[in-house]
Amino acid sequence: MDFKVEVSKILSEKISDFSYEEILSMIEIPPNAAMGDFAFPCFKLAKTYRKSPNIIAQELAQELNRPSYLKSIENAGGYVNFYVDTILLSSQVIKEVLEKKEDFGKMDIGSGKNVIVEFSSPNIAKPFHIGHIRTTVIGNSLYKLYKFLGYNTIGINHLGDYGTQFGKLIVAYKGWGNEEEVKNAPIKTLLKLYIEYHEKAEANPQMEDEAREWFKKLEDGDEEATRLWKFFREVSLEEFSRVYDMLGISFDSYAGESFYSDKMPAVIELMEEKGVLIESQGAHIVDLEPYGMPPALIKKRDGSTLYITRDLAAAIYRKKTYDFYKNIYVVGSQQALHFKQWMKILDLMGFEWANDCEHVQFGMVGLEEGTLSTRKGRVVFLEDVLNQAIQKTKEVIIEKNPNLEDIDKVAKQIGVGAVVFQELSNSRIKDYTFSWERTLSFEGETGPYVQYTHARACSVLRKANLKPSSEIDFSMLGNNNDAMEVIRVLGSFKSVLLRAADKNEPHHITRYILDLAQAFNKFYHDNPILVDDEKVKAARLAIVEAVRIGLENSLKLLGMEAPERM
Ligand code: ARG
Repeated sequence: MDFKVEVSKILSEKISDFSYEEILSMIEIPPNAAMGDFAFPCFKLAKTYRKSPNIIAQELAQELNRPSYLKSIENAGGYVNFYVDTILLSSQVIKEVLEKKEDFGKMDIGSGKNVIVEFSSPNIAKPFHIGHIRTTVIGNSLYKLYKFLGYNTIGINHLGDYGTQFGKLIVAYKGWGNEEEVKNAPIKTLLKLYIEYHEKAEANPQMEDEAREWFKKLEDGDEEATRLWKFFREVSLEEFSRVYDMLGISFDSYAGESFYSDKMPAVIELMEEKGVLIESQGAHIVDLEPYGMPPALIKKRDGSTLYITRDLAAAIYRKKTYDFYKNIYVVGSQQALHFKQWMKILDLMGFEWANDCEHVQFGMVGLEEGTLSTRKGRVVFLEDVLNQAIQKTKEVIIEKNPNLEDIDKVAKQIGVGAVVFQELSNSRIKDYTFSWERTLSFEGETGPYVQYTHARACSVLRKANLKPSSEIDFSMLGNNNDAMEVIRVLGSFKSVLLRAADKNEPHHITRYILDLAQAFNKFYHDNPILVDDEKVKAARLAIVEAVRIGLENSLKLLGMEAPERM
């Protein structure tokens, strides 16, 4: 049981003008235990009710129904402070974790609701580079989180497998490409062709027209254009799949941009019907000036459609197919304007569900000197990053623990985990600079540190050779501050998950994992576990097992594994 959630419930019984979620988000953990285990500030309520915060706090402290798990409810200034019965708290939390195991933290608040998480969505024939890791890792974590909360979750990879760049690629491939070379190293070769195309087109602008013509042919179903496009798509997907396999990621749908190519005419017709399209120099646009945005080009003069047209078609299709409760797009902040325009157009078309769509943005990834640019070809491939992290981990293991079984498997779990954990360590909107050094460092607040904490808990449990039972004398823990800190963190899991989902911020989970690992390591350091006193030993072991479960469940939500030995 999550005491914060419980406390919000009793507060909501008395506060009708604020939603349960609002109340939950207001509850604070006071800086020291003398001020209670939880505190509810009354300043916001004071504005609404036009009373002083002190009076409101006083009234609440008197009127709230005090459940048995609370020792007392008191007011101090504008705060209501809640004091939890520590013995009861430890028994409730530990019992719940040990009983529920891998289901600890699971909720059913999403039952019957469909949530789409669109993530990764790389562009075919372009490298899956370090810039893609953010959408891939953040999206995968959100996907798992929504599932855990009971939503019927659909993971979509909206592949960039359509658009004028395929016209360019066809021109380059037909001009000077080589089939064998493409087959041997698909993305590297296609990328080279793409870069060379741009170099040549700079000197020979006529190539731009050729490229446009080839894309138009593709849109019109021309046999040769389609065959080449399919070939590029297939070989690229094989490469992407290697990375997804390494990360343990799968999607429910790969309906990318091309999937909507035949759904475009209907969308344009609908836009015309709703009167949002205007003609401008032979092209079709939506005027967004009244909303402070540049116009959106929907259909070019030659009849070909654009990225935004396909996104409009995709949204309409998704609503029809999945009747989503939420439709989330995990895409970089560079595309903020695109998504703002797109949402406004859906809104202008009269779709109320436009409000259920959300662009979950993240900051850019820079390289240490200069930025990523596919055209110039300066890219760090994600696959290389993962492989290097695995390799480095393997070296560390061979040095420190050469007798470990399955070294390769564990090295992969830790190496990949290190990259994922670092990625989810900051709030997503922050820009950051990719650095090999930081990614491959295993010191401090890193993935390997947390995984090691989990493995250490496993090792204690193996040595104890005693099954932790829920028949435990919890008074053994109730007066141990280190134990109580672990239990407090453990018990906050559900509210952390709700906050992470509410903000679409997996880094709240990362923070939870670090707090849990730190609290546990302090407990472990200062309180010997395998002592002679059977009662003390049983109670402490129960904590070890509960932490092990808590770490495993939360790591899984980040898309990481929790090896038992390392
Ligand atoms: N393929 C695009 C890119 O790599 C991202 C697609 C984002 N999703 C969308 N529905 N527009 O830049």
